[in-house]
Amino acid sequence: MILTEKDFNFFRSLIYQLAGISLSSAKRELVQSRLRSRAQSLGMESFEEYVKYLEGLPDKHEEWESFINLLTTNKTDWFREPQHFDYIVEKFLPTWMTQGKKHLDVWCAASSTGEEPYTLSLVLNHALKGKGITYKIVATDIDTRVLSQANNGVYSKDKLWQIPEIYQDGFSMGTGEIAAWMKVKPAIKSHVEYGQLNLSHIPYPWENTFDLVFCRNVLIYFNPQTIQSVVEGLYHTAQKNAVLLIAHSESLQNVKTSWKYQKPSIYLKGNLF
Ligand SMILES: C[S@@+](CC[C@H](N)C(=O)[O-])C[C@H]1O[C@@H](n2cnc3c(N)ncnc32)[C@H](O)[C@@H]1O
Repeated sequence: MILTEKDFNFFRSLIYQLAGISLSSAKRELVQSRLRSRAQSLGMESFEEYVKYLEGLPDKHEEWESFINLLTTNKTDWFREPQHFDYIVEKFLPTWMTQGKKHLDVWCAASSTGEEPYTLSLVLNHALKGKGITYKIVATDIDTRVLSQANNGVYSKDKLWQIPEIYQDGFSMGTGEIAAWMKVKPAIKSHVEYGQLNLSHIPYPWENTFDLVFCRNVLIYFNPQTIQSVVEGLYHTAQKNAVLLIAHSESLQNVKTSWKYQKPSIYLKGNLF
């Protein structure tokens, strides 16, 4: 099955309309390989048939979910960009605590398979122990397949090496037949609440809520106009004195935004930090 330019452009404009994801021409092969098996599993022999099928679907149909899930890229890791977690422990928390607050609200806005929100929970659980401060992490993604994996909280031990030893007690280690797996313990998992949220649908359902907003490695899929609306949308969900973390490969340098630059990949609302 070969993807023609016309069909590629159709899929491209569709994923842009549905999820704000901008795919460059270089992504043609990726789209071809990801959508081929979907079309085949629906008994179709060409992309043209799949295009006609999608064109005939009502706005609410389960195929849209599969289509979006197939075109998202979900690469993530435990303790990805570890400087951010050091920043939280060494700079963010000590300063945030000077406000005398007793509860910390975090939004992890493109949480993929859960490694990022669970990393945050491991770090916060450790750093806030005995301090009388509670925390909650709202973790969202557009992709329902990754949300369900994240909610399961079961991971391969292959990547255990990414997790510093002091945090490894946050997992129950499988033995016997399930020796290859580990499970996030309730003490870590219970702080994380998953839900589906499309970042291209603004405004978001919170206002002045979060102390910390993680929106890492997702802005790269958006065009400048979408990035601008997303980061302004995030700003409104953040409390006074909140911090926004984006990935080191991302920047708001050319974006008109209310967030104030602190240092590469870290932005502030207010003057506390
Ligand atoms: C590369 S992963 C990044 C995961 C994690 N934040 C990290 O840095 O490791 C990008 C995630 O963004 C999600 N995503 C893409 N478009 C989205 C949208 N419009 N709304 C919400 N999530 C989206 C994808 O489903 C994917 O799980």
